[in-house]
Amino acid sequence: LKIAVFASGRGSNFQSIIDNIKNGKIPAEVKLLISDNQDAGVLKRAESENIEHLFIDPAHFETKADYEEELIGLLKNAGVELVVLAGYMRILSPLFVRHFKNKIINIHPSLLPAFKGLNAQKQAVKYGVKYSGCTVHFVDQGMDTGPIIKQAVVEIKEEDNADDLAARILKKEHKIYPEAVKLIAEGRIKIEGRKVKIIKEE
Ligand code: GRF
Repeated sequence: LKIAVFASGRGSNFQSIIDNIKNGKIPAEVKLLISDNQDAGVLKRAESENIEHLFIDPAHFETKADYEEELIGLLKNAGVELVVLAGYMRILSPLFVRHFKNKIINIHPSLLPAFKGLNAQKQAVKYGVKYSGCTVHFVDQGMDTGPIIKQAVVEIKEEDNADDLAARILKKEHKIYPEAVKLIAEGRIKIEGRKVKIIKEE
């Protein structure tokens, strides 16, 4: 499976996917890493992993549609079959999403549909929930709303602040994101309406 990763920040999820490809667990290849942030740590990680990486500056384009047309062109050229969002801090337009229907996945640091959007870990601590976690889902035209592939639960302790919780959730992210990519790479995922069904291994 040919993958592109979009990321805006430090890239620990990118790294966990790369590591699982390198150790033979995921039958896939990361063709391209694209960042919208010139200073993103993820660009350095891609460089040391010898993965083609590009900083595409959205500010250089007149419209969001122009920016996304550029991305679509790059993905097509590289033969990309799955777009993996890993801390990509932009919302893709309906145009882009339609173009890659059911071929874009995202990880969100909460148990969706709770705490969508920014600072999900802080939202959870503030709300006082006893459990949170992370969710891997297909991207549809809403924000953090697409069909759910995998979730992992994390207990919240009384003394936790948002950073403590974020660190505990991140460990689970590094487990379930590669697992989800593996399922897709093995062709073991079926979407039926809102539901994602996993085809058992023989
Ligand atoms: C993760 O917490 C992910 O859930 C969220 O953004 C963060 C990215 O972290 N979407 P990293 O750049 O993968 O280290």
